[in-house]
Order: sequence, then C-alpha cells, then structure tokens
Amino acid sequence: MEVFDKATALLEEVQQAEIADGEALEQFRIRFLGSKNVLKSIFSEIKFVPNERKREFGQLVNAVKQAAEGKYEELKSALELKEQDAKFAELDLTRPGVSRVVGSRHPVRLVMEEMVDIFRKIGFTVEEDREIEDDWHNFSALNLPEDHPARDMQDTFYISLDPATVLRTHTSSVQVRVMERQKPPIRILSPGKVFRNETISARSHCFFHQVEGLYIDKDVSFADLLQTLQFFASEFFGADTKIKVRPSYFPFTEPSAEVDVSCFLCHGEGCNVCKHTGWVEILGCGMVDPNVLENCKIDSSVYSGFAFGIGVERIVMMKYGIKDIRTLSENDVRFLDHFKSVIV
Ligand code: PHE
Repeated sequence: MEVFDKATALLEEVQQAEIADGEALEQFRIRFLGSKNVLKSIFSEIKFVPNERKREFGQLVNAVKQAAEGKYEELKSALELKEQDAKFAELDLTRPGVSRVVGSRHPVRLVMEEMVDIFRKIGFTVEEDREIEDDWHNFSALNLPEDHPARDMQDTFYISLDPATVLRTHTSSVQVRVMERQKPPIRILSPGKVFRNETISARSHCFFHQVEGLYIDKDVSFADLLQTLQFFASEFFGADTKIKVRPSYFPFTEPSAEVDVSCFLCHGEGCNVCKHTGWVEILGCGMVDPNVLENCKIDSSVYSGFAFGIGVERIVMMKYGIKDIRTLSENDVRFLDHFKSVIV
C-alpha cells in the first residue's frame, strides 16, 4: 500500500540522513520532530488503511519516530565533536602563553619581617593586638596619666573622649597587654601599624609602622639592652655597624635613650642619608619605668626590663632610597613592582 511505502521510505531517509552543519541538523529536527513534522501528516493517512492493518501501520510510524529521535541525538553529538575538532585545529600551540601576574611583598612588610627574623634568633616572639586602643593601654599604664604634658609628644586620633578610645600611637600598648596577662620572663616583639595626627608630607604620615621590643626578667640591665641593639644593628645593617646612644626622654622608660647607627651607606664618611653626620637615628629605648611594671602588676623590686621602639618607614626609605613616605601607602603598582625581585 502506498502509505506503507511512504512510511518505509521515511524510515530509510532517517537511517541514511547525514548532515554537514547545525543548519542541516535543524532542518532534520523540524522535518521529523518539529510541531508539524512529516510523521504527523503521514499518520493522519491512517484513515485510508484497512482496519486489520491499522495496528501494523501505527507500529511502523512509531518506529520511524523513534529512529528519528535516536538519529537526531546521534547527529547532534557527532556535530559537536566535529566543531570541537575544528576549534582544536585552529589552536596555535606555538603562540606565547598568557603570563601570570606575580605579586610582590610590600617593602614595609619585607623590612618588618627581616627585623622580626633577627630578634627571633635571640628568643623574641611576636605579639600582635588591636589598633583601636583604650586610654589605659595606650597612655595611662605607660606612666602617662591624664593631663600629663608628655601626651602631647604623640598627636593622637581620638575616636571617643569618654571613655577615651584612640587609634594606638605606638605598639607599646601591646606590651602592656602582654605584661598584664603574662608573668616574666617576657621577651616579645610587637610589630604593627600606628597612627598619629600629623600633617602628611614627604617625611611624615598619619600612619606608619613600628617594631617595638620588650624584655622583662630578673636582673635585666642597660648593658643587656645595648648588647641586644648592637646585635640587631650588626645583623640588619652589616657586621661593622656601630651604635651610638644619646640620652633622651620617654615617660615609660627611665633612663631613656635614642640610638643612632653608623651610616650604612657611607660608613661614616658623610652622605645624604646621614645628612653628612655619619650617623642615622633608628630607635628609642630605655629601661622600663618601675611605675609601668607596677601598673601591670609586675613586682618592680624583683623584675626589671628594657624596651625599644623602631620606626619602620624611615629605615625602609633609607634602605631602598625612597624619597617620599607617601609612595609607601599609595599602592601604585609601578612602585610596588620594584620589589618583585626581593626574595625572602
Ligand atoms: N613607644 C615609643 C614611641 O612610639 C618608642 C619607645 C618604645 C621608646 C620603647 C622607648 C621604649 O615613640
């Protein structure tokens, strides 16, 4: 019968279908699986089929439909594979790759890590704490009671006046916290960011970094302090570095001193870095005032100690020949890229 022949021809057409591209695949889909597909129209001719063969005809059309569905999936994945192969053929394996952007460590961080590593060798451990401090830990415990004139030595950012909350002006606040919770011996470094309400210029900024140190034990003397600082200076600036100690004043240490190192660039001959003096100031230090120990519930008749505070930015600037402190916090990638080669 004619309709049977038509259906069989369709089955053959499905089985032999080949496609070249996505458009041909879509044509195939519309013809055999679309909403007005040929199978629907041929099935409508069932009315011309005698009753005893209707079932056979139905099965035949159904077989064509299933074949079309299977063929469609087969053609589709074959086409996908073909497209992938074409893409791969286009791939030029000789083209240079996309280079990865490698970050670098910030010079302030590099110098702080170098300092910490040096003090680690002689038993100092690192302590860190909050940047927003209360009045007690930043000032009062450090022998700087309210209205003490020396509070003006450090221009302070106040966050609230009552109770006084400040951006810490030094990391000595961390030392107070450690002394309050830990019994001597204490041998710690407190590296970190500090804030002072100063006019920003090429030489000073309203925030910078310090590495402060504290050593408390029985019989700690000024000589121990000098030995420690000489060790640091020789390790950091070079074996032949000399240190010079000048009397100074800090409320939390007595006696207090400022320490210069012989200029590591000109070795005392005189240059721009040392302003032709042969010496560069690098830190403040002293023996911890007994009042500070007592404020932290440490018996000052049994224990003594020393403390020092190194300003990091000045040393970074000298070490890398940086003229303007602001470049250290501008985050200009062209500047930071200079430090890529520094491997620590
Ligand atoms: N805290 C002092 C400052 O920030 C530095 C210092 C620390 C001085 C310890 C003496 C002893 O200026």
